[in-house]
Amino acid sequence: MGRRSVLLPPAGFAGVAHGLDNVAPRAFVEGVLAQLTILAPGLLGGSVAKAARHYDLARRIVLWSRRPENRVRLRTQSWCDEVRDTPEEAVQGAGLIVLAAPVDRIITLAQAIGPHLAPGTLVTDVGSVKAEITRLGHAAMPPGVHFVGAHPMAGSEKTGWENASASLFERRTCFVTPRRETDAGAVEAVVRFWHELGAEVTTLDPDTHDEIVAHISHLPQVVATNLCHLLAQKSHTWRNYAGGGLRDTTRIGAGDPTMWVEILKQNREEVLRALRQFEDELHTFQAALTNRDFTEIRSRLERGKAYRDGFRP
Ligand SMILES: NC(=O)c1ccc[n+]([C@@H]2O[C@H](COP(=O)([O-])OP(=O)(O)OC[C@H]3O[C@@H](n4cnc5c(N)ncnc54)[C@H](OP(=O)(O)O)[C@@H]3O)[C@@H](O)[C@H]2O)c1
Repeated sequence: MGRRSVLLPPAGFAGVAHGLDNVAPRAFVEGVLAQLTILAPGLLGGSVAKAARHYDLARRIVLWSRRPENRVRLRTQSWCDEVRDTPEEAVQGAGLIVLAAPVDRIITLAQAIGPHLAPGTLVTDVGSVKAEITRLGHAAMPPGVHFVGAHPMAGSEKTGWENASASLFERRTCFVTPRRETDAGAVEAVVRFWHELGAEVTTLDPDTHDEIVAHISHLPQVVATNLCHLLAQKSHTWRNYAGGGLRDTTRIGAGDPTMWVEILKQNREEVLRALRQFEDELHTFQAALTNRDFTEIRSRLERGKAYRDGFRP
């Protein structure tokens, strides 16, 4: 375990430089987060807790998980200090709260804890869609409590805190998605939190976020799922012949269906827009193949390769 840096409150949080004396007066003690609470620690929330412990970002890490047997097991983990039986109990005394449930449950959790939060508390989340969560999350907070949405572009097809890792966010993008009405000091503190967990933070509005992830995350999921769906209708023996190409292309097809239904519900319009564009691409490719237009096909293969080769390591 090593402390990389102390989670110092930004200037606005001192309540001095920007006159924001209603913002998080008790979130930090001597520059360190006094209590970090994570609700619904699975792969993402467990990784937040492990990274926060690894980098020593909070004096106390408190969790709540819905299943009693899970709470019993979590109490044996060194990366948390307390596990409470209800969300309302877990948020008592927290300066910063991370909501790490499936996207629909993030909203109901925000609504459940809102009335129990003291002025100055910060709330962030990890949900993969941002417009609805930030709108309803903001509305669920009492005066002086700040909901600042976030979406770390890190994870996997695996689930559960057993697969969580302190290094999950290392050098991965984390979107922080304030709304126009979100307090600037609160945004600064949440950006800093994700940065301290190892992420490279990009701040943008929730609608733009949803448009981008519809293309770079949700469309790939739909493509992988439907490729698997098509192949599942072929002989089962074909699967056994799969090489690296099919494994790479379909890895995310193994993601949790329940989680993905909720993501697609919340980002339906943007995913439909992205799908229509993808359909156009497939039709053009199909026409080129039908017409033996291998110049067009080669040029698409080259442009596709150039795009893929341009990914950062
Ligand atoms: N996986 C990714 O690649 C990825 C990447 C970025 C963001 N996200 C976002 O991260 C969030 C969590 O995903 P994850 O991958 O961490 O999933 P996960 O490992 O399945 O964790 C989800 C957590 O939410 C809890 N939960 C499920 N249904 C609940 C309910 N009805 N009420 C209360 N708690 C409930 C689960 O508890 P149980 O253990 O009892 O089921 C678990 O603790 C989602 O919003 C997702 O959009 C995921």
